[in-house]
Amino acid sequence: MDNLLEFDRTHLWHPYTSIEDPLPVIEVVAADGVRIKLADGRELIDGMSSWWAVIHGYNHPVLINAIKNQAENLCHVMFGGITHKPAAELGYQLVEITPAGLDRVFLCDSGSVAVEVAMKMAIQHYYAQKQQKKNRFLTIKSGYHGDTFHAMSVCDPQTGMHHIYSGVLPEYLFADRPEISFYDRWDEQDISSFRTLISQNHQELCGVILEPIVQGAGGMRFYHPEYLQEVRRLCDQYDVLLIADEIATGFGRSGELFGCNHADIVPDIMCLGKALTGGYMSLAAVMTTSSVGRTISMGEPHVFMHGPTFMGNPLACKLASASLSLLKEFGWKDAVQRIEKNLIEGLMPCKQLKGVSDVRVLGAIGVVELTEPVAMAEIQHRFVEEGVWIRPFGKLVYLMPPYCIDDADTQVLTNAVVNVLSQNNHR
Ligand SMILES: Cc1ncc(COP(=O)(O)O)c(C=O)c1O
Repeated sequence: MDNLLEFDRTHLWHPYTSIEDPLPVIEVVAADGVRIKLADGRELIDGMSSWWAVIHGYNHPVLINAIKNQAENLCHVMFGGITHKPAAELGYQLVEITPAGLDRVFLCDSGSVAVEVAMKMAIQHYYAQKQQKKNRFLTIKSGYHGDTFHAMSVCDPQTGMHHIYSGVLPEYLFADRPEISFYDRWDEQDISSFRTLISQNHQELCGVILEPIVQGAGGMRFYHPEYLQEVRRLCDQYDVLLIADEIATGFGRSGELFGCNHADIVPDIMCLGKALTGGYMSLAAVMTTSSVGRTISMGEPHVFMHGPTFMGNPLACKLASASLSLLKEFGWKDAVQRIEKNLIEGLMPCKQLKGVSDVRVLGAIGVVELTEPVAMAEIQHRFVEEGVWIRPFGKLVYLMPPYCIDDADTQVLTNAVVNVLSQNNHR
């Protein structure tokens, strides 16, 4: 192959792109710490953590060693009828760090698959109790849960483009999105649409699914912990399982280890992914309670009907265990608080800029919302010129760097956002 970029342009599909007229891509040859190295020799400071996943930075020696050591011993073995230390040790750590009571673990391949698994668990939970009519879901608008079919069915209907798949996607219930932000005063009115829907439809609902506190790809919005507490109360009142999709929020990103911790609630089912392996390999986990596990297993068909080929992959499990140990040891909370302070200082000047409608920060997530969508190719090029890797979407320019980023590099990221948006060429 003579020209990699030319081959890529003609043959490889990238996320959410046209194969005929794709947006430009840049070639990356390596990455280390918070720096992504390009084929042309330039280096970019990473403001994305590769879509929330690479929390410890790239090429971390502890994680690389975990992969190497495990690869020499056992890369993969089927999980049907077999177990191994990497899976058991990871399960042990997950039970220890997730909210109390979530002590049954299902390991699977990716975030979207975890959402499928969680939704199947909720359906089977009521099927096993001979309540087959309870098989629908309630969620909130502006959510994102992945790109497989059932995950898509609970993504925001507009940004998730449900019309394309109408007749194929199941039609579920969508409450108004929470409007009271994390930092504002709580008002009961905010949950009225959700309350009405659950009270009117609970006989056919098996689950409520939502992203706790931070709605990620559906709008990068931070909502009030009271909303989540009230959702928990209503799910209890109406006998509906609560599924917390912590795939984006899990492992410290929002300032608490899990989004649910902001509201001090325990969901019935929790989905984990992305940063689970420090972002180096695809792996996800679905945690549930012994009560849900027992109910599914006691009634028909007495088993949980899911079992992917790469379930419990030892390489990914070993890596995830190493990443969780690293998280515990290096003091993620201080790191995230420091990043939060730097993001506030660095991004707030954007509030004065033309075309900016909001600037918000929570934990290691900084968001600048614009009044109009960005011109993607142009703005991407400008950020690369500034020496940073920042990939906006829609009206959102946001930062979520690896936790190991230092103050100076965070400042390079925030300065780049201010510089690029000041030039007003994003519209
Ligand atoms: C909250 C949430 N759930 C699910 C997913 C899907 O995960 P994956 O892309 O690993 O399938 C994502 C991905 O961005 C996400 O943010």
